[in-house]
Amino acid sequence: MTRVFQSIPEWMDFKSSLLGKTLGFVPTMGALHDGHLSLMQRSQQENDFTAVSIFVNPTQFNDPSDLTHYPRTPREDLALIESMGVSFLISPEITDLYADQYRYQVSEKVESQVLCGAHRPGHFDGVLTVVLKLLNLTQATRAYFGEKDFQQLRLIQGMAEAFFIPTQIIPCPTLREADGLAMSSRNRRLTPEHRQKAALFPKVLKNSASPQEAIDELKNQGFEVDYIEERFGRRLGAVRLGAVRLIDNV
Ligand code: PAF
Repeated sequence: MTRVFQSIPEWMDFKSSLLGKTLGFVPTMGALHDGHLSLMQRSQQENDFTAVSIFVNPTQFNDPSDLTHYPRTPREDLALIESMGVSFLISPEITDLYADQYRYQVSEKVESQVLCGAHRPGHFDGVLTVVLKLLNLTQATRAYFGEKDFQQLRLIQGMAEAFFIPTQIIPCPTLREADGLAMSSRNRRLTPEHRQKAALFPKVLKNSASPQEAIDELKNQGFEVDYIEERFGRRLGAVRLGAVRLIDNV
């Protein structure tokens, strides 16, 4: 049975009883899919206990309509977490997690300014700030992040190093649907036609001779392209189909 904590003081009180045990942490914004489940599974293999958080973090949405439409499936999420045998679910209220009203923020000045950061101003400040809060709250032994959000992962690794955060940051490989589309909570917002087309994105990203060739091909196929760039030894991209933004890297 998963124990659910909505109150931060209640979690903090309880956390002290886990002294001497290892805790794995999987932060999420809910709308859970198999990619999240693979992070939970890894955490359970490597730790005595696993805590999952569900918090749709408003400060990382630069577009209010994206925040409004972000999929929320709390009942299904809890059932999945229970079925995975996860010990703890932390789902704090916005007002409790941001009691400071976001007066205090973490910002990174270099890598957060490119790729998704260039297209979503303030996004990574919101991500880093909430992840720091959650890592401090959980004081986990290990925390698990998917490589689909590669820029996010690098920035979180960098923050953990910069601030001497004792939690080990564990990168986990991207899980893909049968047609190659990277699993994402946003996929469920695609229309059936766009869902079919979306499978071209990882294929073109992988098979094009150059970023420009990938951009041209994706535009030809009806995608709007935010960027396709090569950095950090990878080719990374962000595209839009209708109102849905997809990211991936190969
Ligand atoms: O990757 C996500 O789902 C979010 O950015 C995270 C890490 C849970 C922070 O809100």
